[in-house]
Amino acid sequence: MSESDIFSRARRDVSFPDWMASVQAQVEAALARSLPPAEAIPGRLHQAMRYTSLNGGKRVRPLLAFAAGELTAATPQRLEVVASAIELIHSYSLVHDDLPSMDNDVLRRGRPTCHVEYDEATALLVGDSLQSLAFELLAREDFGDPTGQLEMVRLLARAGGSCGMAGGQSIDLESVGRNLNQPELELMHALKTGALIRAAVMLGALCGTALSVRQTSSLDRFAKRAGLLFQVVDDILDCTASTATLGKTAGKDAAAEKPTYVSLMGLERAREFAADLRKQALDSLTIFGERSQRLVELTDFIAQRKF
Ligand code: IPE
Ligand code: IPE
Ligand code: MG
Ligand code: MG
Ligand code: MG
Repeated sequence: MSESDIFSRARRDVSFPDWMASVQAQVEAALARSLPPAEAIPGRLHQAMRYTSLNGGKRVRPLLAFAAGELTAATPQRLEVVASAIELIHSYSLVHDDLPSMDNDVLRRGRPTCHVEYDEATALLVGDSLQSLAFELLAREDFGDPTGQLEMVRLLARAGGSCGMAGGQSIDLESVGRNLNQPELELMHALKTGALIRAAVMLGALCGTALSVRQTSSLDRFAKRAGLLFQVVDDILDCTASTATLGKTAGKDAAAEKPTYVSLMGLERAREFAADLRKQALDSLTIFGERSQRLVELTDFIAQRKF
């Protein structure tokens, strides 16, 4: 049994909350090391980058990368790199999402948003810099397989760009005050949120041994369903949870006339749709057997989360 196999098995023996806490702590430490020190010039920008990326967030995308890595006996060292890169892109997307020209939010992860705590220009530069740092991290680590690593860089770039997260955000902004039909809404969610979640799962798996074509397509199907589930639950929580629990302003979607699964189908049917997506996601994992235990547990966490 390889060293990383022994490591995965040892990690599989711990409870889900303990596993989650250990991955979150590992990613927090990795991010703290990778971000430039707050004292390094330009200090204000570096402080703002650390302010928005550290000490907050559920770290769902890193958790998905680590859980997918269990399928391919990936090493924790590689997983830490891809998890950090994805989380940096995600943190950047939140900083820009909160800007006055986008969702105009003042609260994020229980604290003032970046442009409120600092200023708008700094928030723009924080986003730019977090995105660059993500690619720097992914490119500078020696994975011993340059072609595979280049494919990972390409995958992450695609997931963050105009055919991924940024494109979904563009559709989101264009859709204010409009009624989207279900396929249109699904496309918006698949891009703005699903693309990075899908990348987290696929990059995590790519950190280890190769999957078969059939396994890759099952995992990709899982990732697409889990990504959509994540945003449907976000839509539901926006209108059912409190600002204090969410750590971000509740009720924003209706107030801003955003099309969501709740506005499309009502709360009850949105909940049923989320339950269907959870089941479809779990069905896609059956071919992996017990190795997919963490992905199964994370799917339930995503479906049942309260914030
Ligand atoms: C919020 O993402 C934005 C969406 C894509 C819905 P998360 O709910 O993962 O936010 P954090 O990272 O835990 O704060
Ligand atoms: C944001 O979706 C998706 C991103 C790409 C950041 P939302 O606008 O619904 O996210 P929240 O509710 O502000 O976290
Ligand atoms: Mg938004
Ligand atoms: Mg928002
Ligand atoms: Mg939302």
